[in-house]
Parts: sequence; structure tokens; C-alpha cells
Amino acid sequence: MRILAIETSCDETGIAWLHATKGTRPRFKVLVNLVASQIAIHRPFGGVVPNLAKREHQKNLPVLFKRLLTRLAARGEAFKPDLITVTVGPGLEPALWTGIVFAQGLAKRYRVPLAGANHLEGHLYSFLLAEKKGGASALSKKLFPAVALIVSGGHTILLNVDSFTKWKRLGETRDDAAGEAFDKVARLLDLPYPGGPEVEKLAARQAGSKHPGGTITFPRPMLNPDPHDREAQYDFSFSGLKTAVLYYVRDRYRGVPLSAAAKTDIAASFQTAALDVLVTKTIRAARGAGARSVILCGGVAANKALRARLKKESAKAGCAFFVPDFKYNLDNAAMIGAAGYMAKLRKKRYKLAAQGGLEI
Ligand code: KG4
Ligand code: ZN
Repeated sequence: MRILAIETSCDETGIAWLHATKGTRPRFKVLVNLVASQIAIHRPFGGVVPNLAKREHQKNLPVLFKRLLTRLAARGEAFKPDLITVTVGPGLEPALWTGIVFAQGLAKRYRVPLAGANHLEGHLYSFLLAEKKGGASALSKKLFPAVALIVSGGHTILLNVDSFTKWKRLGETRDDAAGEAFDKVARLLDLPYPGGPEVEKLAARQAGSKHPGGTITFPRPMLNPDPHDREAQYDFSFSGLKTAVLYYVRDRYRGVPLSAAAKTDIAASFQTAALDVLVTKTIRAARGAGARSVILCGGVAANKALRARLKKESAKAGCAFFVPDFKYNLDNAAMIGAAGYMAKLRKKRYKLAAQGGLEI
């Protein structure tokens, strides 16, 4: 199946062309994956401005589509999609609508079926897009049951995954998402948006020191909840951690600018606390479910320290570990192609309308 996929849920405009084949397990070959990032446009505002995002998507979509056609022509491949798929949620509704309307136009013009896709399912399946050994090509029967951690700017979710088409939510954040906490701490440290990669860069500077994880003990919210509170075992909370960083800076520095060394220590200490919670809860879930593998995905999965720690702990728990290639961690349309295809396999039809709060 040849798939054209479109993603406009937040601040990245994505268009991709991929081939999907059904077998004992789905296989994807990504031939074109174009992303136009709006980071520079939103940066002065310290976060994504929905109407600006919408305007940029409207501008970018036709340009990216034209580029995709050129790339296909250069490959000698005709533009004959069997399916067009577009993100319908979750995300910013004005942004989602631009993708949906554009996809509807193409579906009509080329007389191709159009299917909605869930952005979170896109993240979940993104590890299947890996091209090299150790990624999808290494997938074996050992995959399921699996535990998946989806960590992005808007979500922190733990799933029990029984098969490619069946999963159950184990836990989620009760307040801020992990990526949101990274972004807010970055703002406190005067780092540019998006803050996740900037906090990671700073934290990495601490790595060679006597205290590689930082010297400040920030709280690890909900790390060890009451054992009788079943839900709390797998739920997260990051707003208290962010507030602890805020109070630390306010009380310790009282308006005095932070030195580079202080920022590095705060970034490293915050990242250690956040990762402690993410890794501990994921491994707890994996052990509890008797999982054969752990899947890490979403924008925060681009964090090298998180990848390394979860990989190590998964091995200790006897689980295989899967994470997408770096280029598929952040929002992209290739993963939406995978999600649209998988939704079709399980006969799930999403309404073709922007659904900001769509769940997985
Ligand atoms: O999945 P994504 O691109 O968009 C959403 O669906 O939300 O995730 C974006 C989030 C942002 O909060 C960003 O700061 C965070 O992922 N992020 C990171 C890193 N790279 C991106 N967080 C920590 N470390 C990183 N290297
Ligand atoms: Zn995302």
C-alpha cells in the first residue's frame, strides 16, 4: 500500500510518502519524509502560538507537497496513493484543521480514500519505521506483551501493549507532561524554546564532573506511592517538580542572575529527577506485566540520557528495548502514515474533524 501522510497537530508541518506491507508483522518503508519546523517563528513567544501555527501550516503544506512530488518523480515513482491519512488529534485544533482540509482537497482531486490518524498512535508505532539493524528489522516474536512509554510535550502515558493493534492504558500524568516540565524549567533558566534539547545539552555538561546527575535533590513526585493505590503506581505528576525548581531558583538567587555553573547543576539535577520517575515507573510496569519488551517514544525520547537509562534498565529486567531513530522521535508525518495504516488494519475509523483532546 502506498500512503501519503500529513501531520499538522502542533508546530511541525509534515508530509511523508511510505510503503506498507502486511505480513506476520507490518513493515514500513519511508521513501520521503519532509518536515518544516516552525521553531524559529514561535521562539520569540516562548511557546507555540496556535494561530501562527495555523498560518504557517497553510503556507507550508502546498510547498512541501510540491517538493514531495518532485522527489517522487526523481525516484521514477508515480504519485498514485492507495490511502491518504492525516492527523485528526490530539493537538491544536486550528492547526489540525489545516491538515484535514488540505488532505480532503487532495483526496478529492486524486480520488483516493482518506483516513484520520491519531497522533499518539503515530508516536507509538514510530519505532517500526527504523531502517537499520536493531530497529524494526530486529523485531521478532519477542515483542509482546510490551510496555510503551509515550513522552511528549503534551502527554506522558504508559501503555500495556498486547499486540500491534491492542493495548490498554496503565497510567498517565495527572498534571504536566514530561516535555512540558523540560520546557518550563528551560524557561526558568532563560534557555530558548523548545527547552527539552537545551536542558539536555546543559545537563550533559555536568556528566564528566564529580556529580554527573547534579548536586540538588529535587522531588521525585509519585515515585513510590502507597502500594494500595494501584493507579498511582503507574501515574505521573511533574508539576511539583517544576515548582520545586522554581522555588529553588527564587529562594536561592532572589533575582540575582544565575551563573553558568548553577544553571548546569540545576538542569542536571532536574533531568535526573524526571528520568528517575520515568524510568522507575516504566520498569515497574514492565515487570508487573511480565513484558518482553519496552518501547520508548515521543519527543522526549530524543533525550539521550533517557534512552540510555531505559535501555540499561530494560536489559536488567530481561526486556528487549525499542526506540525510534532520532528523526522519528519528534513530530513527523511518516509516523502518521504508520498510524493511519494500522488503524485501517484494526478497522478503526476516526472522524475527519479536529479533535484536540483525542485519547489513545
Ligand atoms: O512529540 P513532540 O515533538 O510534540 C508533541 O507531540 O508534544 O514533543 C515535543 C516535546 C517538547 O516538550 C520538547 O521540549 C521535548 O519534546 N523534547 C525533549 C528533547 N527533545 C524534545 N525533552 C527532553 N530532551 C530532549 N532531547
Ligand atoms: Zn508529538
